[in-house]
Amino acid sequence: MKDLKFNRHRRLRGSANIRAMVRETGLYKEDFIYPIFVVEGENVKQEISSMPGVYHFSMDRLGEELDEVVELGIPSVILFGVPNDKDAVGSEAYHDHAITQEAIRFAKERHPELLVIADTCLCQYTDHGHCGVIEDGVILNDESLDLLARTAVSQAKAGADIIAPSNMMDGFVAAIRYGLDQAGFQHIPIMSYAVKYASAYYGPFREAAHSTPQFGDRKTYQMDPANRLEALREAASDVEEGADYLMVKPALSYLDVVREVRDNFNLPIVAYNVSGEYAMVKAAALNGWVDEEKIVLETLLSMKRAGADIIMTYHAKDAVRWLEGK
Ligand code: PBG
Ligand code: ZN
Repeated sequence: MKDLKFNRHRRLRGSANIRAMVRETGLYKEDFIYPIFVVEGENVKQEISSMPGVYHFSMDRLGEELDEVVELGIPSVILFGVPNDKDAVGSEAYHDHAITQEAIRFAKERHPELLVIADTCLCQYTDHGHCGVIEDGVILNDESLDLLARTAVSQAKAGADIIAPSNMMDGFVAAIRYGLDQAGFQHIPIMSYAVKYASAYYGPFREAAHSTPQFGDRKTYQMDPANRLEALREAASDVEEGADYLMVKPALSYLDVVREVRDNFNLPIVAYNVSGEYAMVKAAALNGWVDEEKIVLETLLSMKRAGADIIMTYHAKDAVRWLEGK
């Protein structure tokens, strides 16, 4: 053993201080975007059964949730309005006084500094639950773009700071950028759900947003989970069309894709830690099978390590409390 040669990696792990000194990535409250679901009605604060700790709020109860987010120092929220009335063309998506627009208006009035992000899609608003308009069972691409642009403009008019289109029609960034610019919203950034897979991890969200497709699936517009190169093509198109951020969604099963997009593009990268990822961790934690705090912080850190700058996560409020020892 006398001349044995090896490296002493443990030298840099010997104490908490030396580990902190050489730590490569970290989690900060500024990294987080917190999703909130808003429903019609009065005095509603109802837990979503597959997402313990996440609620449906009616407008008159939304303030308490926003106050908590702001008090914790989380700089941004994304709002998902869930309307009662749905129709074939998703009229409630682009109506100036529909639920999402009113929620945006309310949030900006109550907390002008809070960044309010609008999810721009049609599936919560259409009676068929698809993200675009339909003819003979086919989801039409170009016909959907006009409605999306109208949705984005009405969200910007209501005060949204950032438009986050999630619908995966081709050309959605170009159409929304054009629509926003024409309406005088050149300064409003687009956070594109550029790389969005047709994933089973959206299950709990669809229960929460009542947006399950009533026939078929989303595989003709969302991406095949088997594909990595296609993610680069999707991201490249969105960059060309004027996206200001690139999102990868879901996050946990797609950390390789987060890294790939990080290495190939120089825009801020967002990872969406989606509802099914949240539900799995919560279920295990509630059974006492995993240590929730440690599992969540490790999971979120893995997204930063993979190259995400920003994380959209239902764990955001808890994560900030844990990070700050509250
Ligand atoms: C709407 C939308 C979805 C999610 C965000 N925006 C659902 C879907 O595409 O089916 C999923 C978010 C989550 O699961 O947390 N297009
Ligand atoms: Zn959709």
